[in-house]
Amino acid sequence: KFVPRVFSGMQPTGNLHLGNYLGAMLNWIHMQDTHECIYCVVDMHAITVWQDPKELRRAIVDVTAAYLACGLDPKKSIIFNQSQVAEHAELAWILGCTGRIGWLNRMTQFKEKAGKDKEAASVGLYTYPVLMAADILGYHATHVPVGEDQKQHLELARDIANKFNIDYKDAIEASGFADGVFFVPPEPYITGPATRVMSLRDGTKKMSKSDPSDLSRLNLTDDADTIARKIRKAKTDTEPLPTEKDGLKGRPEADNLTGIYAALSGESLEKVLGQYGGGQFSVFKNALADLAVARLGPVGEETKRLQADRGYVESVLKDGSERARAIAAPIMRKAREIVGF
Ligand code: ADP
Ligand code: NA
Repeated sequence: KFVPRVFSGMQPTGNLHLGNYLGAMLNWIHMQDTHECIYCVVDMHAITVWQDPKELRRAIVDVTAAYLACGLDPKKSIIFNQSQVAEHAELAWILGCTGRIGWLNRMTQFKEKAGKDKEAASVGLYTYPVLMAADILGYHATHVPVGEDQKQHLELARDIANKFNIDYKDAIEASGFADGVFFVPPEPYITGPATRVMSLRDGTKKMSKSDPSDLSRLNLTDDADTIARKIRKAKTDTEPLPTEKDGLKGRPEADNLTGIYAALSGESLEKVLGQYGGGQFSVFKNALADLAVARLGPVGEETKRLQADRGYVESVLKDGSERARAIAAPIMRKAREIVGF
């Protein structure tokens, strides 16, 4: 009854970085050949923290350009921005009435992003995971490729789907869903050697757009010199690299950098350690810098080229939002009927 369908998104709040690329984007690209895929620029999530409107408008196009430069193909996938399909917001309201305050109170991302003064955070930042559940459930998506940090939000989406199916069991069956399942609990798809890329400056913090230090991340638009410099300056300990995976325990920086190498090269971690283990960090860092420049350089160039071709990128979004709406609208109509509207 439910076709395998992929949904995922990123916020237009700055340049995409290596964490976005290795944690999510590589899987997005591969899944295009095996699944029906819907990739969203989640601009409504972005305004949970205040954004300058002009900047936001530009960032929506810039992130879409990065999607295309990484290899998302509008012929294979639906590529659009969230705010253009009103069903996301409409369904989020219904799901907000299904989810429980106690569930939201457990979300660690809110605690991190709200900081010390939780009372001063926006209501949207707090209910962000409910909108995310609507993004996914509103397309009856079955698989959600994301980084490790999104695992808890995915569990919440599953809990909301299950509770909705129980709360409205009779109405769901009366609407033609004989097995009582209207919302499929989506499967997180978190896989690869770099599902959680850490900061280059602090191996205990995740690489993030919001880190004030630009040295902490590789942006997809960084030029070759910048990439090489950031890797040279990356924090490490003083021991040589281990020859086995076990030796990475308690060494977050070595673990992170070798994981990045494995993800970028497509080689196993064992093979990377076999080649560089026992040697000095500096030798490994030079090899990593060359690899990162070779892999990210062309993506950055293509991103910049597409960012200058705004008309084309906007046409991709417009076409994508029409195709997205064609899937979301009938599901939303059913959801309305089920709850009694
Ligand atoms: P950010 O966390 O940088 O603000 P988003 O929230 O827009 O980025 O996340 C977009 C996608 O990138 C999500 O699937 C998220 O899990 C993934 N992602 C973000 N940072 C990392 C990271 N450091 N390592 C792995 N995946 C990440
Ligand atoms: Na994130």
